Amino acid sequence: MVAAYDLAQLFRSLAGRRESQAPLAPHSSFGIGGPADLLLFPPNVAALRQAAALAREHGVALVVLGAGTNVLVSDAGVRGVVLSLKEGFQGLGIESGNGGGGRAAEGGAEVVVRAEAGVKQARLARFAQQHGLAGAEFMIGIPGTVGGAVRMNAGTRAACTADILLDAEVLLPDGRLATLGREEIGLSYRASALPADAIVVAARLRLVRDDPAGIAARMAADSARRKATQPLACRSAGSFFKNPPGTSAGWLIDAAGLKEAAVGDARVSRRHANFLINVGQARAHDVVALMRHVQRSVAHRWDVWLTPEVTMVGDEHAAHEPEEEAG
Ligand code: EPU
Repeated sequence: MVAAYDLAQLFRSLAGRRESQAPLAPHSSFGIGGPADLLLFPPNVAALRQAAALAREHGVALVVLGAGTNVLVSDAGVRGVVLSLKEGFQGLGIESGNGGGGRAAEGGAEVVVRAEAGVKQARLARFAQQHGLAGAEFMIGIPGTVGGAVRMNAGTRAACTADILLDAEVLLPDGRLATLGREEIGLSYRASALPADAIVVAARLRLVRDDPAGIAARMAADSARRKATQPLACRSAGSFFKNPPGTSAGWLIDAAGLKEAAVGDARVSRRHANFLINVGQARAHDVVALMRHVQRSVAHRWDVWLTPEVTMVGDEHAAHEPEEEAG
């Protein structure tokens, strides 16, 4: 353990912006979370690697934050270092094309796009559309980064990251930078088999040439559907729970009569019951209490235990984790 006041000193030689005792609420789409002892914005892989090595050597806990759109940060914040990749890792470009990687079933030529971890998924979707590349349309409405997409196989009902991922560059816990193929990353529904302390640095995605107007139309339809069914103007972390096999968390919560259930300023959205929203000054504590209430009520009504899709970040959460299905 390293005292907080030593951390800034320990990481002083690292390139990139840093903040000590940095409130994490502004870095989370929930608008919730206490301070990180040290928040670093590494600009490149060298700085990231150095930060990871220092943390390992000195036993400092390290948390990586993408866009902060799928996390609930504890009220006590994070003891240790938080790395935000949203200021660096913005590289995005076409790596190869013209069918070199084979022909897709539809007959279009495959094109490989490389996106660094900090690139927002919506930016990737727009880039692909502008270049007449299909396959990333589903990312238009997902607020997270490419790094987050790989780590949790981000997706929608239509498609998910596993459908287009070729491989990813990953900084492994032992300090090696490895290129891992899709199979090695082990993507499943909103999850990957990557070790918790591995850091996704970039991804290569396999897209297919298609008509830009058609791609744009599909993206517009997705955005319109989301706007009509999801509380996009509210502070949330998107879908809070994973969909249980064969059913949907939103429907189960809604049909259990839980719309607008609340704890403090944390509330079940009226527009979409699988969105827990912060309607004012909600604390992580409130969201966790509401999550428990929803889990227990749904289990009581439907005999299904809902598992969060949102990642809990910060020491305090460990105290409440994890409650298992009763009986
Ligand atoms: N439903 C209700 N009441 C509600 C909400 C939904 O009855 O309050 C019903 C809907 O009528 C529908 C079913 O539940 O029959 C499923 O709802 P929806 O079509 O909105 O999709 P979802 O399964 O809730 C998934 C993703 C979303 C993604 C949408 C659209 C998960 C956990 N969520 O939602 O992803 O935007 O499909 O593709 O897989 C996210 O992961 O953060 C996210 C927003």
